[in-house]
Amino acid sequence: MPAGVVDAAAKGVKLERHALLLRRAAGAKQLVSASSHLLFRATVLATLGLVVLFAVHYPSLLSHSFSLSALPASGSRSSSSSSSPRSRHSHRSLLGSGTSSSYGWGAAWEREVRRSAKPRRDGALSVLVTGAAGFVGAHCSLALRARGDGVLGLDNFNAYYDPSLKRARQRLLASRGVVVLDADINDAALLERLLSAVPFTHVLHLAAQAGVRHAMRAPQAYVASNVAGLVALFEAAARHADPQPAVVWASSSSVYGLNTEAPFSEDHRTDRPASLYAATKKAGEAIAHAYNHIYGLSITGLRFFTVYGPWGRPDMAYFSFARSIVAGEPITLFRTADGADARRDFTYIDDIVRGCLSALDTAGKSTGSKSGKKRGPAPLRVYNLGNTSPVPVTRMVAILEKLLGKKAHKRVVTMPTNGDVPFTHANVSHAARDFGYRPATSLEVGLRHFVDWFVQYYKVDVRGGGNVLAGKTAKRKSMPMSAAS
Ligand SMILES: NC(=O)c1ccc[n+]([C@@H]2O[C@H](COP(=O)([O-])OP(=O)(O)OC[C@H]3O[C@@H](n4cnc5c(N)ncnc54)[C@H](O)[C@@H]3O)[C@@H](O)[C@H]2O)c1
Ligand SMILES: *[C@@H]1O[C@H](CO)[C@@H](O)[C@H](O)[C@H]1NC(C)=O
Repeated sequence: MPAGVVDAAAKGVKLERHALLLRRAAGAKQLVSASSHLLFRATVLATLGLVVLFAVHYPSLLSHSFSLSALPASGSRSSSSSSSPRSRHSHRSLLGSGTSSSYGWGAAWEREVRRSAKPRRDGALSVLVTGAAGFVGAHCSLALRARGDGVLGLDNFNAYYDPSLKRARQRLLASRGVVVLDADINDAALLERLLSAVPFTHVLHLAAQAGVRHAMRAPQAYVASNVAGLVALFEAAARHADPQPAVVWASSSSVYGLNTEAPFSEDHRTDRPASLYAATKKAGEAIAHAYNHIYGLSITGLRFFTVYGPWGRPDMAYFSFARSIVAGEPITLFRTADGADARRDFTYIDDIVRGCLSALDTAGKSTGSKSGKKRGPAPLRVYNLGNTSPVPVTRMVAILEKLLGKKAHKRVVTMPTNGDVPFTHANVSHAARDFGYRPATSLEVGLRHFVDWFVQYYKVDVRGGGNVLAGKTAKRKSMPMSAAS
């Protein structure tokens, strides 16, 4: 066969093969497109099915964004939504029945939120309390509620210390009609909704990552709650509330850092923090200045000095010493480099609560508006809230020993330079002048109240001599509000 014929035949075969390949490819394509149509339909069906299932099972979740964003505008906000036929109608149509008694994220939830925030008498405040399941927050919420103010609490119940204590405080607040939402201050969307939908007159911002030495283990927690969280709070208050509330927030005596002038006065240096915790509180004071300056937000910073008392914080020395004394475990005391005892200006919780409420009452109005215009300068204040009498930590331990009827096993070490300062001492003359703040509780009296609560809450037997801290295995039946687990 001539070469040309062979060539042509070969070409023919090649062409045929090529055509076959093309046909096969086309068939495959058809197959693929057919099956992708099927797949698409199946997916759409499955999605629809899921949406229906979801809507049936969690109607309240779907209504959350609707009901809060669909609230009446600021003018008519002061009347409760449950009395507004429009909102009741929208809830009904969305939820079917909105009568669930638990705090979900639906109409019932919203009613609870509004009821909690609603003032009980004319001229009373409506306060959003962040960190309300915390030590100071729980006490302030109860005190506000007791005098007829509306209070809505918010807390993320983090595990920095035993969350069951935070839950127990939450139950205590619930028994007085105060709702504490399970939420993070970094949830900007939630803060915006709350502040734009509920007419708060004030925010008492106490949520924070506390603790001086823990900052070396979890530095980012301090940045997240004390810096980013503070900004989220100020943003919502300045730019989403109308009218803007006044903000009172917790700074700390730790901002005085390595300051040696005593007693500590608000005009002393605060630019030498000894811990990241202190640095974030100092940053907070600078951030407060900016939000006051730009947005006309009324802001009061309170520098608390070592607060103690019933329902206190287990991570603090007086509390952990009490536990260790009862359990027969050693405690570690700090001595300063020159051999002196560390001293603290221990301040009883009731004195702090009075200071917080007076600060709220005298806060003065914010002058800004949602549109960003401010009518003039708004109040920007900073106050020490302390006891004005520093006590050696060894003395605090001696009082605890007496109250608990048991000696402590003391280990005394030189104070490490990782956060603690040798002493604190408040000058409270500004708070006294501006809102009559006068601490009235000695450490002896205050610790007696603490120990009374402590032995009851943890079921400690202090009479028998052989003290038992039942601790985790305790059955704490006699405390109506104590954690069950
Ligand atoms: N107790 C003191 O001696 C003392 C001294 C100086 C300053 N302060 C400040 O006072 C405030 C209250 O302190 P406390 O002793 O009641 O502490 P606490 O830890 O008992 O209370 C703070 C509460 O805030 C919550 N929280 C933390 N981060 C949060 C977040 N991102 N979102 C929502 N909730 C969050 C916590 O769960 C906690 O319940 C804090 O700002 C603290 O820094 C306290
Ligand atoms: C406390 O502060 C006030 C105001 O700054 C000051 O006049 C007073 O002398 C201070 N008290 C002490 C004991 O330093």
